[in-house]
Amino acid sequence: MSEVLVLKLGGTTLADQAHVLDELAAVARKRPVVLVHGGGKRITEWLERLGVPSRFQDGLRVTDQAALDVAAAVLRGVVNSELVSDLRDRGVDAVGLSGVDGGFMVAERVPNLGLVAHVVGIRRDFIDTLLVAGQVAVVAPLARDEQGIVCNVNADDAAAGIAAGLGARQLVLMTDVDGIRDASGRKIATMAADEAEKLIAEGVIKGGMVPKIRAALQAVGWPGSEAVIADSSDPHALSRALDDPDFGTRITATREAAEAPAGPA
Ligand SMILES: Nc1ncnc2c1ncn2[C@@H]1O[C@H](COP(=O)(O)OP(=O)(O)O)[C@@H](O)[C@H]1O
Ligand SMILES: [Mg+2]
Repeated sequence: MSEVLVLKLGGTTLADQAHVLDELAAVARKRPVVLVHGGGKRITEWLERLGVPSRFQDGLRVTDQAALDVAAAVLRGVVNSELVSDLRDRGVDAVGLSGVDGGFMVAERVPNLGLVAHVVGIRRDFIDTLLVAGQVAVVAPLARDEQGIVCNVNADDAAAGIAAGLGARQLVLMTDVDGIRDASGRKIATMAADEAEKLIAEGVIKGGMVPKIRAALQAVGWPGSEAVIADSSDPHALSRALDDPDFGTRITATREAAEAPAGPA
């Protein structure tokens, strides 16, 4: 297992996440970091501005060529460049890339969603080269499918694919809620994979939380690894996601793993 931290940030305005980037700058001095970003709200804004209609199904965007062009431009051009620049402002050596660069993310087309692909693997040597050189890799969720067509990837899925491929001990998925809520509305502190599947089947976990949980489950295949779903609006969101067992929801492969004391940081 690897000490690399894979962190996913939503695509909301960077001003809202400035404090997370401050914390990230501190973490990046101690361990390798891969930062994966979404673009949801920013892409929707640009689709509206350019008059391209958007459609969602089960929390996932249905992407035609016009929408993909806008998504690719916003993700790789606007959002990725802003994040790299914001990290460089904080003294972090960061480099932007998408899954297309270096053939880094290996993806397969998802049926019925248009130009959307699912990550099935990564070129580990390529990302390791960046991390060993002390770079924070800032990843836009775009990848080539099995036919070489550039597709959009759900950012949670991209982060999970990278975490799984690197054998990362921790995957942190930042979002706009303080964790997963059960049927009675209580926040769940720790959850094992089978419990998550049950809550999805019962419809308690829905919308954008479904791809997020599925991503988390994909990333926790390694014994001792955990995925944390946490609220980015907390002023200490990242350090709490990494160290505070009461913060957010921690997902592990098995219940025993959820109850075991956390490994060394
Ligand atoms: N059981 C649940 N617990 C918490 N949030 C849930 C649950 N089911 C659905 N959600 C929704 O999932 C949303 C997070 O997913 P999403 O909107 O895609 O955010 P992000 O931009 O972080 O990917 C929450 O804002 C919440 O409305
Ligand atoms: Mg989402």
